[in-house]
Amino acid sequence: MGNIFDTHAHYDDEAFNNDRYELLDRLLSGEVCGIVNQGTTVRTSEFSLELAHKYNNMYAAVGIHPECADENSMKELSVIRELCSDKKAVAVGEIGLDYYYDVPRELQKQVFEAQLRLAGELTLPVVIHDREAHGDVLDFIRKYRPKGIVHCFSGSREMAEEVVRLGMYIGMGGVITFKNARKSVEVIESVPAEFLVLETDCPYLAPVPFRGKRNDSSLIRFCAERIAEIKGMSTEELLKITAENAKTVYGLN
Ligand code: NI
Repeated sequence: MGNIFDTHAHYDDEAFNNDRYELLDRLLSGEVCGIVNQGTTVRTSEFSLELAHKYNNMYAAVGIHPECADENSMKELSVIRELCSDKKAVAVGEIGLDYYYDVPRELQKQVFEAQLRLAGELTLPVVIHDREAHGDVLDFIRKYRPKGIVHCFSGSREMAEEVVRLGMYIGMGGVITFKNARKSVEVIESVPAEFLVLETDCPYLAPVPFRGKRNDSSLIRFCAERIAEIKGMSTEELLKITAENAKTVYGLN
């Protein structure tokens, strides 16, 4: 079995409509040892569970993404709570704050906070989306002290150190291979490999040399090569450590 663990994927996306099952068959019988598909709405959370039940090494996070938050979200959390009881649901995600899009911030905070409480109550880890909302995200992490991952980490070195000190993992993907990745390189330099996990966020954020193309879990190898280079270790060692971290954070050990 391979040693790539993709902690954050969206194989429910329509970009995979033509070859979803062939692709997953190939990846999960080859170089990929695990995938956690992320919910963004009730519908995609259910689809993530459906995918997780088709494959031994596929799991689901269930939750409402800040970009998808609307006036129904608070009511829908009762469905998310029920989905959490599925044995293939390993986290509440992806949840968080996105100040790039113009979904009202008070609504985003309300939905995020309710899901942090839900995860705490059920002792499940969370997968946090933080886009241009570093200060508020950090405040919520300090308040609720969740276990889990800050995915596609885009904060500063100082924020990364604080997130790790609070007991969470840093999720890194294709961005680390981009030319303008100076901030991500600093984060990788300062965070021990024991607190890093790898992800695609596919179909988006494919690493160089596939930037702009459809991403999939096998391309994590290019991110691992770059991170291993920064860390001064072999790619295989980095893949092994980060796959162990992924299993630990999602409770799969
Ligand atoms: Ni995502």
